[in-house]
Amino acid sequence: MNSLPSTTPGDLMQRRIMENMSASIMVLDADFSVVYINPACEMLFEISRSKAFGKKWDQLVIENQELTTRMQGAIKQGHPFTEREVQLEIYGNRILTVDCSVTPLYEPSTEPSLLVELQYMERQLQISREESLIAQSHVARDLVRGLAHEVKNPLGGLRGAAQLLERELESEELQEYTQIIIAEADRLQGLVDRMLGPTALPHKEQVNIHQVLERVHALIKVEAGDDIEIVRNYDPSIPEINADPDQLIQAVLNLVRNSVQAMGAEGRLELRTRSKRQFTIGHQRYKLVAMIEVVDSGPGIPPEMIDRIFLPMITGRAEGSGLGLSIAQSLINRHDGLIECSSKPGKTVFRILLPLEKMNGNERSDMDH
Ligand SMILES: Nc1ncnc2c1ncn2[C@@H]1O[C@H](COP(=O)(O)OP(=O)(O)O)[C@@H](O)[C@H]1O
Ligand SMILES: [Mg+2]
Repeated sequence: MNSLPSTTPGDLMQRRIMENMSASIMVLDADFSVVYINPACEMLFEISRSKAFGKKWDQLVIENQELTTRMQGAIKQGHPFTEREVQLEIYGNRILTVDCSVTPLYEPSTEPSLLVELQYMERQLQISREESLIAQSHVARDLVRGLAHEVKNPLGGLRGAAQLLERELESEELQEYTQIIIAEADRLQGLVDRMLGPTALPHKEQVNIHQVLERVHALIKVEAGDDIEIVRNYDPSIPEINADPDQLIQAVLNLVRNSVQAMGAEGRLELRTRSKRQFTIGHQRYKLVAMIEVVDSGPGIPPEMIDRIFLPMITGRAEGSGLGLSIAQSLINRHDGLIECSSKPGKTVFRILLPLEKMNGNERSDMDH
């Protein structure tokens, strides 16, 4: 069986409606194998119809036991249901938020099947979230920078005065105190420099993002214990990008360090690259975008924190400064890119998107239709 039986003109019309709907529709048989998938659903799952046919639901959606149990109940008892804002994890590291409606279908003389309708709005939500996030984090960064400048200026004087004082002091015991002043001033200087963030203008050159990742890999291998497995999953066909390699290394390193810190002694870290065609970053649609994902098997980011993690001074760690992600985000923003994040226990994905090719002026994007 590889499609819904259709006989009458009415059936054909129904089929045509399903084919043209913007909602994603899938029909599963009693074994939860796909017997029909409409084009919107093919796009959502990034799978072709021929590949989808015969696939089991759990080959498309990674274990969502709660939903699967409800679907089994629906087919047995004949009760349709709708669940709002379900998180579906699908293959290719994508976590989608959808409204999901499930309706059992009963046809005489055939086994019952399930109509699954998925209304996807996440990308739209995400785009507006990205914009407000960027705006928020710019304001916060300016504030932190202003504060850091105010602290930085008197700090040099403080340290110099302590050094002069030290030279005048004969007693070693008293010199211990000036040493404390100098050491603390130096520590504060380091913090303030990090608060000020990267100030140098990017020195752009043609860079292979895999060289950047290999560098990060070499650095993090030393820092992570032996029980952290590091997997490199690269798409070697991604073209070179015009970027500042040091700034990219810094940005990726900040993400990778967080992953290693979150996982603790053991876990799995994946560095994954892919290219995306026709992709929107903020308001701008690009012909080609490079994607670097840092995926870890750690405990995940608490939901109440996830909307704020890119803001400066937001940290979940006692010894954290909360600057790593804000700096990474601003470095990537300078390259017209964006970092986004999705997280659940056992799987956190930070995704760096960097534009490679703009749309040509005379091309119409999909959104214009
Ligand atoms: N991969 C991750 N897994 C779990 N939590 C994370 C991850 N990355 C970031 N976080 C959370 O986001 C917070 C902010 O990160 P960051 O800006 O780098 O600051 P810091 O590392 O100094 O705390 C971290 O303290 C942590 O709570
Ligand atoms: Mg950090």
